[in-house]
Amino acid sequence: MATHQSTVTAALRRDPITVPLGDRSYAIDVCDGRPDLLTDAVARCAPSSILFVTDRNVKRARGAAFERALAPLGVRRTNVTLLPGERRKSLASVSKLWDAALGAGVDRDVLVIAAGGGVVGDLAGFAASTLLRGVRFVQVPTTLLAMVDSSVGGKTGFDHARGKNLIGSFHQPSAVVADLAHLETLPVRELRCGLAEIAKVAVVADAGLLELLERDAAALAAGDRRALAPIVRRAIEAKVRIVAEDEREAGPRALLNLGHTVGHALEVHGAFTRWLHGEAVALGMVAEMEGCAALGLTPPPLVRRVSDLLARLGLPTRLPVAEVSAAWPYVASDKKRDGAALRLPIVRGEGRGVVERVPIEVLRDALGASRGAASP
Ligand SMILES: NC(=O)c1ccc[n+]([C@@H]2O[C@H](COP(=O)([O-])OP(=O)(O)OC[C@H]3O[C@@H](n4cnc5c(N)ncnc54)[C@H](O)[C@@H]3O)[C@@H](O)[C@H]2O)c1
Ligand SMILES: [Zn+2]
Repeated sequence: MATHQSTVTAALRRDPITVPLGDRSYAIDVCDGRPDLLTDAVARCAPSSILFVTDRNVKRARGAAFERALAPLGVRRTNVTLLPGERRKSLASVSKLWDAALGAGVDRDVLVIAAGGGVVGDLAGFAASTLLRGVRFVQVPTTLLAMVDSSVGGKTGFDHARGKNLIGSFHQPSAVVADLAHLETLPVRELRCGLAEIAKVAVVADAGLLELLERDAAALAAGDRRALAPIVRRAIEAKVRIVAEDEREAGPRALLNLGHTVGHALEVHGAFTRWLHGEAVALGMVAEMEGCAALGLTPPPLVRRVSDLLARLGLPTRLPVAEVSAAWPYVASDKKRDGAALRLPIVRGEGRGVVERVPIEVLRDALGASRGAASP
């Protein structure tokens, strides 16, 4: 009876966000310290077996919690622990996952569980999308960035020597369980990368969220989970609205690329060691917005407001002009390029982004001009 009651109470305390995509719809649980929600999410899938994918850091930090959630299911499980880091977001890692699954003789009812940050999520999701022509997967994000961004919306893939995320697929997960308890062991620099993606979605799509970030910036930068919880939920809801409208990025989903055109270029130019993804996005956001302000497309006070917020969130916002120039060739080879123009998110006002084509050379000149003018 006690067990039954606690199950009912737990069920009542579940308040998932739904991603409405017809027969590809799924629920995102946002919680703090609820391994039972992962157990439930997996049980609902009733898999024949599990391919559990994580990386070495996540296994060390969170392995016990995952074990607690999965052991009671009594489902046959193959564990794969990848080496951590963006450099491992490669075909070789995907191959390892295919080999492990096929070696274990999985069938089409296998469930892939991606337990980790965006790298593990993108790799495991891609492996799931291709294995036996597509099997189900569940996202268990353990970084703030993965909770609010990479685990939501079904983009999967890996990097190529010619650029980031150049090979991939759209494959929606069957469920997402975002348990903030995992953030306890996340290095603060990584946590702040997640705040960059939250600021991004606020700037293009949710003015109220932008205000909340400004109000609680200090607590958020310090990783206060009580301050984080409502903001994580709201950021996910904002991304879900965009994904529901444009699952395959034919239009408005490209808003979520704010800061990523310049950001990706900085990451590649820095050989993925100089900047973490979220830091590159913060720098890219300010640079792109400054470029658009110089073209008269974005109000300059808003650029200053966003730049101040990012700085208060503990993120880098200023770059030497020389680094932008050196990274420029990677902007020109961006996959969002369309002839001589880029499809760029343009922030017209707070929470109001639009996607427009901007000629690459015009952006380059504007960036140089605005940076020159802005330097003290
Ligand atoms: N698919 C999408 O829509 C999408 C969206 C945004 C970003 N991304 C991708 O996500 C990736 C970045 O994700 P990320 O920032 O989560 O990086 P990540 O997966 O590399 O994780 C960051 C680091 O934190 C460690 N870690 C993770 N969780 C931890 C925890 N709870 N405790 C201690 N250490 C932990 C990891 O081992 C890693 O070293 C990039 O490859 C980016 O392209 C994808
Ligand atoms: Zn990103």
